Amino acid sequence: MKEKEWDKISDNYLEEILSPFNKGVENPIYHVLKSIKSKKKVIDLGCGLGILAPFLSKNFKEVTAIDFSEKMIETAKENNKTLKNVNFQIKDIKDLKEFHNQFNVAVSVNSIIMPSLIDVEKAFQESYKILKTKGYFIGIFPAIESEFLDALLTFEKQLKETKDEKSAIKNTHKIVGENYDFLLGIINYEGKQKHYYNFELEYRLKKVGFKKIKISKVLYPWKIYGDSTIKNKPEIWDWFVTARK
Ligand SMILES: C[S@@+](CC[C@H](N)C(=O)[O-])C[C@H]1O[C@@H](n2cnc3c(N)ncnc32)[C@H](O)[C@@H]1O
Repeated sequence: MKEKEWDKISDNYLEEILSPFNKGVENPIYHVLKSIKSKKKVIDLGCGLGILAPFLSKNFKEVTAIDFSEKMIETAKENNKTLKNVNFQIKDIKDLKEFHNQFNVAVSVNSIIMPSLIDVEKAFQESYKILKTKGYFIGIFPAIESEFLDALLTFEKQLKETKDEKSAIKNTHKIVGENYDFLLGIINYEGKQKHYYNFELEYRLKKVGFKKIKISKVLYPWKIYGDSTIKNKPEIWDWFVTARK
C-alpha cells in the first residue's frame, strides 16, 4: 500500500486492521521492551496513529516515531500531544540515512509490509543501520502461514456444512479470497501487503547482518479475529521477532 492508501484508512484504523494492539491480544512487545537495559533512544518505524508512543515515552528517554503517511503522523501528534519526549516525523523506512548508528532500539509493528521485495530489502537494511552496535530490533510481521490455517479451518467448516468436497473448496476460495501470491508472500486485501514465512524472516534478518534472532508468535484469539464459532483450534498469529546488531 502507498502513502495515500494509508492516509485513507487512518480515520478508522483499529476497525479496519487486525492489530496486535487490539484488546484481548497478548502482545509480548511490552515486557520485551521493558526488559531491555539500554533505554536511551528508541525509534518506532511506521508508527501509524502512535498507539505505542505513550508506552515508549514512559520507558525511554528519547522517542522518535516515523511514518510516511502525513495523515497518520498528523493524528499521531494529535493523539499524543502531552508527550514531551516523542518526536513524530514524516519519513520513509526505506531511507533513514540521517539516523544511521543512532538508536539503542528500533521497533517495527507490521510496518515492513511494502509489496515490493526490493523495498522490503531496503527497509530491513535501514532497520539494521539505524541501530548502534548491539542495538535491539523488535518487530512484528504478518505471518503468511496464518493464511493457510485460516483456509484450512474454513474448508473443514464448509465440508461439515455442505458434506461435499467440491462445494467446500469453492466456498473456501470465496470466503478466504483469491488474492494470494504464496510464492512471494504478497496478499491483496484492498492494497497489496507483504506477509512472511518464518524461514524467510530469519533469512532476511541474517542477510542484513542481524544476530541473536528469535522468532515467536503474537496470537490472535478467534473471538477477536471474527469467527467466534471456532473454538479449541490453533489461533492465527503474527511473527514476533527480536534481534541484535
Ligand atoms: C499496519 S500499520 C501499523 C501502524 C503501527 N505500527 C501500529 O501497529 O499501530 C502500517 C504503518 O506503516 C506505515 N508504513 C508503511 N510503509 C512505510 C514506509 N515505507 N515508510 C514509513 N512508514 C510506512 C503505514 O503508513 C502505516 O501507518
